[in-house]
Amino acid sequence: EGGNAPPAQKWSFSGPFGTYDRGSLQRGLKVYKEVCAACHGLSYVAFRNLADPGGPGYSPAQAAAFASEYKIKDGPNDQGEMFERPGRPADYFPSPFPNEQAARAANGGAAPPDLSLITKARSYKRGFPQFAIDFFTQYQEQGPDYVDAILQGFEDKAPAGVTIPEGSYYNKYFPGHAIKMPKPLSDGQVTFDDGSPATVKQYAHDVTTFLMWAAEPHMEERKRIGMQVFFFLVVFAFLMYFTKRKVWANAH
Ligand code: HEM
Repeated sequence: EGGNAPPAQKWSFSGPFGTYDRGSLQRGLKVYKEVCAACHGLSYVAFRNLADPGGPGYSPAQAAAFASEYKIKDGPNDQGEMFERPGRPADYFPSPFPNEQAARAANGGAAPPDLSLITKARSYKRGFPQFAIDFFTQYQEQGPDYVDAILQGFEDKAPAGVTIPEGSYYNKYFPGHAIKMPKPLSDGQVTFDDGSPATVKQYAHDVTTFLMWAAEPHMEERKRIGMQVFFFLVVFAFLMYFTKRKVWANAH
């Protein structure tokens, strides 16, 4: 049985000209760091990526300072010992659990998935009739709309007739409605210094934007090049048309 269909959101990154909202990426990084990182890894993203073009827009120095707040396991050293050192730009976000077994054991049997590609793991099918979406997404939901929805879909009480097993939580949008992630966000939990509202709705929107960037870090460049190719082909088609007219002008 599926979850409810996630409501369609407005995303700055949708469409052929879409770009990431820098403020949203920076706030989303803060939400990930302060909340999600306790359980979820982000192991395909390196600290240096925070300074890449098309990303959250930090300077290399800011990315290095951010990295240095983390403790990274390293080694063995000359004595054959493992040790911890401050993070460097080349390091990847550390995962909260050493392996899947540990992750399962700490979360009632369900391992929190790595979030690097979570917005892509859920294919984005909008504009199809509902029955088609239901059919093709029985085991997949709709990308960023789904991640945004799941973070806001927790309810204290399951509706009458729905029983949620011990250690699971009711979520409107999770397939089957019983999720082993406890409600991670509540109002006021994360402080933003740009005056954005400290609400679950805002946190969910921003962390989803950040996770979309994590999964598609080159999206802006890809779209820009796509438009350039498209423009070139239009010009080229005209050029070819008039060239053909000229070359064949005297053909009988
Ligand atoms: C699953 C996002 C915080 C524990 C998930 C899923 C997403 C997600 C997208 C996948 C749902 C699916 O499979 O369809 C987030 C985000 C967080 C966050 C964006 C921060 C805002 C946390 C925290 C914990 C946690 C703090 C631990 C206390 C889990 C677990 C699952 C899960 C155990 C697996 C659930 C299951 O399969 O039943 N999370 N999460 N998450 N999360 Fe989180």
